[in-house]
Amino acid sequence: MKEHTISSFEDYKKVYQKSIEEPEDFWADYAKTFDWHEPWDKVQSGSFEEGNVKWFEGGKLNIVENCLDRHLEERGDKTAFIFEPNQPDALKRTISYETLHEEVCKFANVLESKGIKKGDRVAIYMAMTPEIAIAALACARIGAVHSIVFAGFSAQSLADRIQDCDAKMLITNDGLRRGNKLVPLKEISDEALENCPTIESVIVCQHADNEIEWEEGRDEWWHLLMRNVSKEHEAVAMDAEDPLFILYTSGSTGKPKGQVHTCGGYMVYTSYTLRNVFQIEEDDVYWCTADAGWITGHSYIIYGPLLNGVSGIIFESTPTYPDPGRLWEVVEKYDVTHFYTAPTAIRALMKEDIDYVHRYDLSSLKVLGTVGEPINEEAWHWYDEEIGNGECPIVDTWWQTETAGIMISPLAGVTPTKPGFATLPLPGIEPALLDDEGNEITETKGQGNLVISNPWPGVTRGIWGNHERYMDTYFNKFPGYYLTGDGCRRDEDGYYRITGRVDDVLNVSGHRLGTAEIEDAIDDHKKVVESAVVGYPHDVKGEGVFAFTICNQDIDDPETFKEEINDLITETISPIAKAGKVQIVSGLPKTRSGKIMRRVLRKVAAGEADDLGDISTLLNPEVVEEIRAGEAF
Ligand code: WTA
Repeated sequence: MKEHTISSFEDYKKVYQKSIEEPEDFWADYAKTFDWHEPWDKVQSGSFEEGNVKWFEGGKLNIVENCLDRHLEERGDKTAFIFEPNQPDALKRTISYETLHEEVCKFANVLESKGIKKGDRVAIYMAMTPEIAIAALACARIGAVHSIVFAGFSAQSLADRIQDCDAKMLITNDGLRRGNKLVPLKEISDEALENCPTIESVIVCQHADNEIEWEEGRDEWWHLLMRNVSKEHEAVAMDAEDPLFILYTSGSTGKPKGQVHTCGGYMVYTSYTLRNVFQIEEDDVYWCTADAGWITGHSYIIYGPLLNGVSGIIFESTPTYPDPGRLWEVVEKYDVTHFYTAPTAIRALMKEDIDYVHRYDLSSLKVLGTVGEPINEEAWHWYDEEIGNGECPIVDTWWQTETAGIMISPLAGVTPTKPGFATLPLPGIEPALLDDEGNEITETKGQGNLVISNPWPGVTRGIWGNHERYMDTYFNKFPGYYLTGDGCRRDEDGYYRITGRVDDVLNVSGHRLGTAEIEDAIDDHKKVVESAVVGYPHDVKGEGVFAFTICNQDIDDPETFKEEINDLITETISPIAKAGKVQIVSGLPKTRSGKIMRRVLRKVAAGEADDLGDISTLLNPEVVEEIRAGEAF
């Protein structure tokens, strides 16, 4: 694994320089290490201005051959996945590369026998078991486009996503268990499918053994379909720019956007970033605690580790089940070397008795990672000292669903770290800071909108079915740049510190939520006329949801009202988007053009109402006093 892995800070500086001066050579060099059916004609073409970036055009490949087939000779017996189920005492299940290959080939044959072919969309709504990876990889093997929907989403969210991409098939489980909770996935799917006429078939993988209903002619059991299926399957050769998957993510306005990632660039980028950021070696045991329903799970549970021939863990449970020692118990149990999680989990666990950590032997750990939200310094130090024993480099990795892989991060043990800083860009990535007028901040030290100046292989290739929205969201505001939506500071050493979203996107426990989606859900309440949602600082979740609502009648029982609102949010989106605080107001601060001035609401929500800044441009400044004096519940 030494090749194409940067081993010292000096080396990083050299490689980075080359990657920026000669990006095509740099990426082609790495891309050559994969198996291609046909080489590419052009390494990179297109531009951000046109929104038509392409990588390795003309090249033909199948990403699954690179994840599995390629390793069989050398690593066939090696563990690909260790499955750690919800119940800690359940039988250990490990899957070798050879077995995983077999299962994927078999399921690819199943998919084809059900009429799924290259280009068809397949929705996956599943528990965190190896089968979610098998389902995704089988799609990729036959060239079908998978769209995994996080299993914490509601029937309505699932239906929205299926409808948006006209999926032909849904793969799900009977149910899943997380902690003591049962989530009846099949039942939720049935409800979603009432409004999804494009779905022709449903494959149900038995898992939680909960009772389910069955629609003859549409539903079939995974295990029955997998009986007597051939283990041989020839992977479909895909164009590098053919879509590999669609993954929905929230933006500032409207419904979630289906981000499209393509076969070649995604493969090259996720693989390169995993090996360099984590400095993985052959015998390491790598554990990313994310859910496969998010991009972190796609890139760093499924594709990145398999592309590198690494052994990874698929974890079904939660950090606090059956007690807050669970993560550390698993680290000890499997001698985990690389551990990658979200700051929210660290903040939750550091509140618990430290004995939950000390009970376990964590000496196998070599590298610790974080992702999804800014990490506060207190959490960083706790992670460093209590979990890493001061000996494990921490990689604070900044990236997004749109970027496919890690963009700004230390390389473990290579880049000197600073708590709270994602530090420096990966090779091939040129970040810049722009002021609100779009002028580039040229001094090393500065603060502004984080943008990326040059195309990289993992950049999102589109929003499914909506090129205009793609251009407006990422490329039209500051032509020539990819707009991240994040604010950022750069210090005198050129180190980057992400300060959080500058748009109307919330980050609750590392989950990305759009304010507009939550407001839509709240507005369905019959007593609500209008609402505005902002984030407020929360010591575990990072950010909580604060809802200001205008009502058409008096609310006698605020607690019940809040519960009703949260039920609506749970039904239309997910419990993760529930409001932590609600305040009833008679009006919302609006600009003369009718836009809600969220800045004012954010200040009130943060308890900083004394410092509201300039509100002279408001249409209705009188409501500000009332909002300031009001109380949330
Ligand atoms: C935030 C998750 C600070 C950021 C991979 C970004 C971070 C959004 C970090 C993307 C980090 C992610 N430090 N903030 N290390 N990593 N973010 O699409 O606001 O779910 O825009 O991708 O998470 O969230 P997404």
